[in-house]
Amino acid sequence: MAQRLLYGVRDVGFAPYGEYWRQARRVCALHLLGPRRVAYFRRVREQEVDALIARIRHEAAAGGAVNLSDVLICYSKAIISRAAFDDGDYGLDGDEGGEKLRRVFADFQELVLASPMREIAPWLGWVDTLTGLEGKTRRMFEALDGLLERVIADHRSRRSGGRQVPADGEVDDHRDFVDVLLDVDEMDKDAGLRLDTDNIKAIILNIFAASTDTSSTVLAWAMAELMNHPHEMRKLQDEVRGAACAAGRVTEDHLDGMPYLKAVIGETMRLHAAAGLLIPRETTEDTKLLGYHVPARTRVVINAWAICRDPTAWERAEEFAPKRFVDAPVDYSRVGLDFRFVPFGAGRRGCPGAGFAAPTMELALANMLNHFDWASMAHGGGRRQGTPLVDVSEVFGLSVRLEAPLVLVAKPLSGLG
Ligand code: HEM
Repeated sequence: MAQRLLYGVRDVGFAPYGEYWRQARRVCALHLLGPRRVAYFRRVREQEVDALIARIRHEAAAGGAVNLSDVLICYSKAIISRAAFDDGDYGLDGDEGGEKLRRVFADFQELVLASPMREIAPWLGWVDTLTGLEGKTRRMFEALDGLLERVIADHRSRRSGGRQVPADGEVDDHRDFVDVLLDVDEMDKDAGLRLDTDNIKAIILNIFAASTDTSSTVLAWAMAELMNHPHEMRKLQDEVRGAACAAGRVTEDHLDGMPYLKAVIGETMRLHAAAGLLIPRETTEDTKLLGYHVPARTRVVINAWAICRDPTAWERAEEFAPKRFVDAPVDYSRVGLDFRFVPFGAGRRGCPGAGFAAPTMELALANMLNHFDWASMAHGGGRRQGTPLVDVSEVFGLSVRLEAPLVLVAKPLSGLG
């Protein structure tokens, strides 16, 4: 499926180890997701957090509970779309409010992990047609491909109207990801990386899939754990409200003064490694491991979820205890060096987007706790003693998510705009 949906795995995450992957990864890590680019998108994050808070406030005012799983996906998708395509008004035909596009992306994330019958037994390919998998895959791919084609054509035509490729060493920071990738051909001549339209589509799709579900999933888990641990919720709310009280709104300037916020996010990622099984690896040579012979080209699946909960590595491994990250905060510029904590993977295939994800998650969580008090739908509703307020059953997809959507009651704090 990855072959088919990612243009012959010409992305980064699924591309086999080799020269193409090395160059494409360098472009991602340096030109798309490096610290300067992350800093540049600060305005986008702050605007989208305002939109997130306004949406929650609107739903709360309408008297209903808020489907946080939904609004968090919209939030992380809005940030990555703006970073990738700028403010271009791209969408699918007749797609009011981007709902169709959200569904197409959700289908992409589900299908890229699907195991069609014809992958297992090619002569049984007709089963995929009968089950509808084949049709769904074709429709989803055509919709996404058409959208990406429009985005890239539009960027190309804007550029032909006199846009300058930055000279050596000069960085035009106003470029979105598509612009940067289109510039790579010019800038990277010496390195020898050529990116055609399909390469650019595959990389953009990879970044969408890698960033949307993961960041919003971590945020939903953090809210669920805080609901089930009211003491931790109060502690974090005190920190956030203490730091932001005069401003009424948490900005990125406040984040460095919020160690507990960072600890809560670190602990959430430890307990709920979003990409539970990482991306499968393949051994490149015959290897001996713990006395076993592992032949070259063996598929290796790494259970990051279990490693992060390993009782030989973590005290009270199954408990939500943010305190453990207060004195040892996650360093997003060096993820994957501590082999006990691998929510971003490890080694040379480790996530290059951790530094992009961190302020996206921190800013949203801080503002949600600053603007609202939260209650569960189950409050006072005949709940049995000892049952958690929020059901934390999991479901495994591209990320390990809460099984049921997280629906909470938001009570706006008076006096905060
Ligand atoms: C909380 C948020 C995130 C989590 C938990 C996460 C987790 C991961 C994991 C586990 C991997 C596989 C690593 C491995 O196999 O060792 C990965 C790869 C990757 N991630 Fe992330 N990620 C997050 C956010 C992002 C963001 C925001 C971006 C881009 C904007 C991104 C881009 C990528 C890319 C391009 C790869 C493939 C790297 C390669 O194969 O060389 N990720 N991520």
